[in-house]
Amino acid sequence: MSSLENWSTLQKQWIGKVYQKKSKEWRRLAHFEERIAPFFSCRRVVDVGCNAGLMALPLCKCVSHYTGVEMDDVYYAQTAETAKMLFPGRFDFVHGDAVKYLTTHVGDYDALLLSCILYHLPDLDLELMATVVLPSVDFAVVYGRYHRPTIKNTYALEKPENNRKLFESCGFEVRNSSIEHPDLFCLICERKPK
Ligand SMILES: C[S@@+](CC[C@H](N)C(=O)[O-])C[C@H]1O[C@@H](n2cnc3c(N)ncnc32)[C@H](O)[C@@H]1O
Repeated sequence: MSSLENWSTLQKQWIGKVYQKKSKEWRRLAHFEERIAPFFSCRRVVDVGCNAGLMALPLCKCVSHYTGVEMDDVYYAQTAETAKMLFPGRFDFVHGDAVKYLTTHVGDYDALLLSCILYHLPDLDLELMATVVLPSVDFAVVYGRYHRPTIKNTYALEKPENNRKLFESCGFEVRNSSIEHPDLFCLICERKPK
């Protein structure tokens, strides 16, 4: 059973604001907790485009520090208010553009969580990611949804193979994590030793 079931009332209220219990998103969070969060063990991680910061809940058990960056006012307000109570100390939530934030905090983090976010970024930001942000970290996880054939795929970075190419071109070794999920993919990107 996922430890999500054991979360406090406050944690569940936070979740409830965005996702209904047992919804598809709830199950995605449980899956993330079980299969992906352990990769971040003891790392200083930035959750890029953290939305309401829900990934912080499974991550809080294992990371050494978590920073969620979100530019949407509404999601950020929901997050910051609850997170202050839930995670004093090891957790920060930053309101603003994650790429701008990361380009001015090079060296502060060693891992990135890129969950359903890369395809949101315009070309200029992707360029900054490739030239400034990715060279500053040793580890990243790209977590996303396979798009079903019935859904028109308009963004190149929704495809796992294109994410793979981006990371390989930036000096990472990329492997598929065997996360055993029909709709979700996960790429583990580790910097190649020099
Ligand atoms: C599809 S949601 C994914 C949210 C979360 N990572 C998850 O997997 O549940 C994308 C989020 O990224 C945010 N976002 C998009 N571009 C961003 C940027 N440049 N900086 C910060 N947040 C951004 C959006 O506001 C939205 O909340």
